[in-house]
Formats: sequence, structure tokens, C-alpha cells
Amino acid sequence: MRTQVGIIGAGPAGLLLSHLLHLRGISSVVLERRSRAHVEQRVRAGVLEQGTVDTLVAAGVGERLLREGLPHSGIELRYGGAAHRIAFDKLVPDRRITVYGQQEVVKDLIAARLAAGGDLRFEVPDVAVHGLGAEPHVSFGGERLDCEVIAGCDGFHGVSRPSIPEGVLTVYERDYPFAWLGVLARVPPSAGELIYARNERGFALHSMRSPALSRFYLQVPPDADAGDWPDERVWAELKARLETVPGFTLATGEIVEKGVAPMRSFVAEPMQYGRLYLAGDAAHIVPPTGAKGLNLAVADVRVLTEALAAFFATGSARLLDGYSAARLPRVWRAQHFSWWMTSLLHTFDDDDAYARRLQLSHLDYVTSSEAAAATLAENYVGMPW
Ligand code: FAD
Ligand code: DHB
Repeated sequence: MRTQVGIIGAGPAGLLLSHLLHLRGISSVVLERRSRAHVEQRVRAGVLEQGTVDTLVAAGVGERLLREGLPHSGIELRYGGAAHRIAFDKLVPDRRITVYGQQEVVKDLIAARLAAGGDLRFEVPDVAVHGLGAEPHVSFGGERLDCEVIAGCDGFHGVSRPSIPEGVLTVYERDYPFAWLGVLARVPPSAGELIYARNERGFALHSMRSPALSRFYLQVPPDADAGDWPDERVWAELKARLETVPGFTLATGEIVEKGVAPMRSFVAEPMQYGRLYLAGDAAHIVPPTGAKGLNLAVADVRVLTEALAAFFATGSARLLDGYSAARLPRVWRAQHFSWWMTSLLHTFDDDDAYARRLQLSHLDYVTSSEAAAATLAENYVGMPW
């Protein structure tokens, strides 16, 4: 079997790359380890930057996103018994975010690829990457896929990055001493905008998916098990961390999904080796507080698509050779922002009274200085491309 681009992983990065390449007349095969139902039901990110929305709409996969997505022009920072709005509409007037579940993006992309006769293979076992120098190919379940380029879009735990020989990559990473418990509940959102709450008990986030579905996150210990969080405990903790301003009551309802996500920062440099190019979580991870992971994956794929289109049209590898160098400055900007938002809003066990006062002072600065708020807003909605 032969194709131009062998894509490993049917997350947002792999699926969007396959779709954008198709629009440029470039063939690809997507190999995914899990089932279609699994990737379509995996509840993860929800915040799309303007640039991500623009990319999906321009690629013809934004129809449902424009219909069902929830545009937001501000977020709330809640701490010290008060609510503070970061007004994107005032601070970055031409840009906003859209709340639309990652699994809905994945569903839309799978539908578009299948409608166009795309070759997506699910439940593919034993994917391995070979011949990165001269003869790139992918083996899986006793079959062989020959390709001119391999795109490693297989997330943090995939096979692509580990197939790069030792000594090539420089890895930068940081683990955080906490995780997030994510919860999806059948209850209308209790506020119109996202609430990022800093609380002595730990961080809490109020988000949403639709007028009838709310999404929440709680800072929990790094080894927490969702099984230790029965619904009553989740609601009690959310109320304790969010019902801290006068007049705010958290509406409760049936919890339909619950999961624990670790918090990690990670970058592998360079994001390429031979004819293998890494995109999305395969190359870098951010803690979710800045809502950047999915958006970075989409931005990687945009740049990689341009480089591949130039390569297949002219034979010039100039853009492909520069792929990693083109992406890393933006990847590091998102790294810093995500680390900063995480540090600003979470409680750290080893923080002393001085560290807690510094954190509160910084929150006061962000919520009272227009310049500081504009920095948060600009990074949150996404820097212009
Ligand atoms: P993935 O979505 O991880 O896709 C990789 C795919 O590769 C998977 O389908 C996997 O099954 C497949 N795969 C892995 N190994 C193999 C193999 N050996 N062979 C074949 N296939 C393989 N980001 C945001 O931008 N905004 C947010 O609000 C946000 N919130 C988040 C909340 C949570 C709780 C979590 C966990 C993440 C959040 N993120 C957020 C991050 C975002 O979900 C990821 O950055 C995004 O999924 C990256 O997409 P990807 O396609 O690179 O990787
Ligand atoms: C959501 C996830 C995030 O990581 C975040 O910062 C904001 C919202 C969400 O899933 O809705």
C-alpha cells in the first residue's frame, strides 16, 4: 500500500491534517489505534481560539461549529470573594473564543473525511515507524504502508516520537503536583461565561458545552482516582470553591462523565527527524489551564500543510526543513502562558504564606491593570497568526 503522507493518530491533529491535505490534492492514510466510537466520545478540550475557528470554517468543516458553538467575549477570574471579568470585547476587540467540544470537532472531521472517500483506519494494532531517512514506511497488523512523509499525530503516548533515535531530541518538561478531575453534567451552565476560580481548597473551573450541558474541572491530588469522587463529593467541592461571591448558586444535575487528567508541560525539540514530522501533543503538552493544547495542534497542522503542499508541488523541502523552527516560538509562547495561568490559579502544597500573598497580589494586578489584563486576553484568545 502506498500514499503520500502516512498519518499516525486520528485526534484533531491527524484528522485535520488529512482533511487539509485532501483539499490540496495530497493523499494520506490515517492509522488510529482506538475505535471510531472511542475517539468520537473522548471528552477533552472545549475552547477554540479565533484562529482555530477560522481554520475549520475555511476548510469547510465549520458549519455545525458556527451553528452550535458558543462564542464568548470574556472570562471571569474569581478569588478573594469577588468576581473579575477579563473583557476580551474591550481588550482584544476583533477576537473571541468559541466553546465547542473537541469530540465534536473530531466528529465533524471524521464525517468530512469519510464523505470525501478518505482512508481512515480505526483499531489498527502495532503501528511502528521505519526508514525515516531514505524509505519512510509504517507497519501495522502485518501490513506495510509506504509513504513519502510520515506525520506523527499520535499524542503524548504515541509511537512516533519514541521512534526518533536517542540523542536527537532535547526534551524540556515539568510535572505539576496536582491533576484535574473533569466532569460533564446534564445541567444548564450557572453563568454565561467561563469562571476560573482560585480558592484555598484548590482551583475550580466552570465551563459548558451547550445550554443544557455544563463542564467542570477541580484541582485534585496527582494520584486522585475518579472512583474516589462520588457525585455528591464533586458537587460539594464545586460549591465550596465556586459559591464564593454574593448571589452565585451552582446548579447541580446528573453527572454523565468523570475523569482525571494529569498536568504536565513538555516540549521535544526539534519537532521533526528525517521524513517524520510531529504535530500536536506528540511534540508538546501544556497544562490545560490556558486552554491551548488543541489550538496548538491546529496551528502545527496549518504550518505543516503549507510545507507539505510546497514539497509535493515543487519538490522543494525548504518549508518542511523549517517546520520545527517555524513552530517552536509559538509553542513556547503557549508553554509560558499555560504555566503562568496554572501558577496563578492553583494552590501548591509547598506554598508558604509569602507565596500565597504573591499569588493574590498578581491576581489583583491582572484584574486591575488594563495592560496586564490585555496580556492575559491576547494570549487566551490566541496571538494573531
Ligand atoms: P490526541 O487528541 O491525543 O490524538 C492522538 C491520537 O493518536 C489518539 O486518537 C490516539 O488514540 C492515537 N494514537 C496514540 N498512539 C497510537 C498508536 N501507537 N497508533 C495509532 N494511533 C495512536 N486543549 C485546548 O486547546 N483547549 C482546552 O480547553 C483543553 N482542555 C483540555 C482538557 C483536558 C481534560 C485534557 C485532557 C486536554 C485538554 N486540552 C485542551 C488539550 C487537548 O485535548 C489536546 O492538546 C489535543 O487532544 C491534542 O490533539 P492531538 O491530535 O495532537 O492528540
Ligand atoms: C475547558 C477546558 C480547559 O482546559 C479550559 O482552560 C477551559 C475550558 C473546557 O473543557 O470547557
